[in-house]
Amino acid sequence: EKQGYDWFMRKEIYEQPQAVADTLLGRYNEDGSLKLDELHIPEAELRTIDKIIIVACGTAYYAGMVAKYAIEHWTRIACEVEIASEFRYRDPIITPRTLVVTLSQSGETADTLMAIRHAREQGAKVIAICNTNGATIPRESDAVIYTHAGPEIGVASTKGFLTQVAACYLLGLYLAQVRGTKFGDEIAAIMGELAATPPLIQRVLDEIEPIKQLAAKYAEQKSVLFLGRHVGYPVALEGALKLKEIAYLHAEGFPAGELKHGPIALVENQIPIFVVVPPQGRDQLHDKVTSNIQEVRARGAFTIVLAEDDDEEVIPYADFLFRLPKVSTLMQPLVATVPLQMFACELASLKGYDVDQPRNLAKSVTVE
Ligand code: M6R
Repeated sequence: EKQGYDWFMRKEIYEQPQAVADTLLGRYNEDGSLKLDELHIPEAELRTIDKIIIVACGTAYYAGMVAKYAIEHWTRIACEVEIASEFRYRDPIITPRTLVVTLSQSGETADTLMAIRHAREQGAKVIAICNTNGATIPRESDAVIYTHAGPEIGVASTKGFLTQVAACYLLGLYLAQVRGTKFGDEIAAIMGELAATPPLIQRVLDEIEPIKQLAAKYAEQKSVLFLGRHVGYPVALEGALKLKEIAYLHAEGFPAGELKHGPIALVENQIPIFVVVPPQGRDQLHDKVTSNIQEVRARGAFTIVLAEDDDEEVIPYADFLFRLPKVSTLMQPLVATVPLQMFACELASLKGYDVDQPRNLAKSVTVE
């Protein structure tokens, strides 16, 4: 049931505050400590882990890229992220001390399933983060953390992405708690930030109208670029994937620092470039990204800047400015991805495409 929305995708974009809240529900205590009862892996075993490998495909892979920053930062365990279809073909180094974390909305993605089978054959423990109860991937894993997003019907994943990030953060904080790499009060503070995101996602949705109007300008556009750094980089990749999938236009995401190493040659007059700007203040990357905005604008780009409230430094270089609520760097993907999803949804809809069932794509890819 679309409940009055034109597309399931749009409905699912609007469901994100609730979906993230439901994913967090019951998984932390009042004192801010984590409680992941469903992780049936003994704590002693979690203490011996010396490497984490996240395997996933598509949007879930980008959620994994976001998670890597948080997991390494909080747990100090080395964390790799790999496209599931590439994983087992490179003879990856896996030992019984390797923890493989797999992200899959459907739980039926064949590439991901083959990757975890391979990991388990080599003796690794596998934790699945999945949105579908009893699907094949969680059944074949050692433990599962369900993202309680509710069914996702649109082929383009939206609430799947946000809830995967949220679930990975719960896992990261839990590992930090078990291994003692963060003090209890630090964990409680971060958990507090995470728990505070649903109303902030709602605020982004309440203020989304200008993004829809912006999309109307680009019905004839051939190419759109996205820039970000740190966790903003996978957000950029995700924004580009949404546009490819449903609006059928060429879109690419780049780490903003890579611009000068090649991609800046693509910048031509009036090309729209989305830039995800890290929070100000303590975040040293803020100023670097601000100069990247100037660089592309000086070469004729139309800059679409996503920056937090009170960030005045970006104002002179933003042809279009969308305000994000103030959050810490690691929480920013949960708010910054939403306008990019809506931009793609609106543009595809205006072009008359079937937003929920884009050409050539299936909701779950059950062949390798
Ligand atoms: O069900 P999964 O999370 O395993 O699916 C993985 C990808 O196939 C999926 O995210 C795909 O990239 C989406 N269509 C993206 O919108």
